[in-house]
Amino acid sequence: MAKPVRITETIFRDAHQSLWATRMKTEDMMAIAEAIDEIGYHSLEAWGGATFDSCLRFLKEDPWVRLRRLKAVIRKTPLQMLLRGQNILGYRHYPDDVVKEFCKRAVDNGIGIIRIFDAVNDIRNMEVAIKASKEAGAHVQGTVVYTISPVHNIESYVKLAKELKELGCDSICIKDMAGLLKPYVAEELVKELKKAIDLPLQLHGHYTSGLASMTYLKAIEAGVDVVDTALSALALGTSQPPTESIVAALQGTPYDTGLDLGKITPINQHFNEVKKQYQSISAPIQVDTAVLSYQIPGGMISNLRNQLAGQNAADRYEEVLAEVPKVREELGYPPLVTPTSQMLGTQAVLNVLTGKRYGVVPKEIKDYVRGMYGRPPAAIDPEVQKLIIGDEQPITHRPADDIEPLLDKARKEIMPYYQQEEDVLSYVLFPEVAMEYFKFRASSGNK
Ligand code: CO
Repeated sequence: MAKPVRITETIFRDAHQSLWATRMKTEDMMAIAEAIDEIGYHSLEAWGGATFDSCLRFLKEDPWVRLRRLKAVIRKTPLQMLLRGQNILGYRHYPDDVVKEFCKRAVDNGIGIIRIFDAVNDIRNMEVAIKASKEAGAHVQGTVVYTISPVHNIESYVKLAKELKELGCDSICIKDMAGLLKPYVAEELVKELKKAIDLPLQLHGHYTSGLASMTYLKAIEAGVDVVDTALSALALGTSQPPTESIVAALQGTPYDTGLDLGKITPINQHFNEVKKQYQSISAPIQVDTAVLSYQIPGGMISNLRNQLAGQNAADRYEEVLAEVPKVREELGYPPLVTPTSQMLGTQAVLNVLTGKRYGVVPKEIKDYVRGMYGRPPAAIDPEVQKLIIGDEQPITHRPADDIEPLLDKARKEIMPYYQQEEDVLSYVLFPEVAMEYFKFRASSGNK
């Protein structure tokens, strides 16, 4: 019985976020966008994640303009984005008015599928985004962030997936951002999720540990409907498994994707060409087994190395690597994904370099312990909690309930530079970066 597997291509989002520090320019996308639209992908992940910040900050491009330009030529393939629930595309929680408006504008500007996740799998941080995206007319994909800990198991993932379905999600994604999911665990997880909920199931993996293609195959045999892959020019390493290899592996089987490698090859060639200009920022393609022992995602490893090098402490790397799982355990086993990976990484560096654990604690970690990022998967170590916030009581309600609306205030602040309603959202998410971009835009004559 034929059960074709569908493919989400990540070349315009996660692939270059993972390998080229999110720096792919819109021009390099536009040059090949129409051809990509002809492949027959299930969807094209092209927006969200770190691309929004990177557009404004490094490329001096308007991410909204990028989205509209892509949408104008990609007419058949749904454009997909990654959204961090109440964090939207930033690194903290935003008020509900901003979340609702952002989801609506994303859809209005061309997004068809919104994948929504929360770093600690707290459904309260996803519900407003899920409802707003549904209302805006998007296909909403609820996400189960995969990690390994004594409190994470198949049962907990099934429970979360059921809750996501109840909130109205159209499909479910297993998000394995660190490449930790092993083939036979994936088989069981997919089987149990398919048994428990009657929704399309998608797998998002990273090649970091060298397992992802094997994991995909077992997940496919167990009934997963869609997998995320990247064209081979930007695959492997901390990116996704190669599109062409997965397509080839399934040819002539009941899972045949039906995609034509003859059409894909010239598109990949385009990226092999443009790759040359991104060489200086390219991450190495290697198998990193540290992720299996420390559960630290690839992006975080390069971050830690950079932080240490910046403080002339590159020789403390092994100590920091060993400190991360300790911090994670003490803080209730949050999955390591944006923004928790950066937060815990910084705390681990401070614990090692200052020589006094939790002697210096950044505001983000204090807020996390206060419950302002949601409910940690397990209880926080009481002694560590005391070191961080003293006798203060963490909140138990939904974090965003405490945040005042922001849109009207932000609109007033940017009035001299205002060109479109989307500017208000860019500014709320990244105030300094967006303002700098607005000034650049005004001075470069784009009025
Ligand atoms: Co990813």
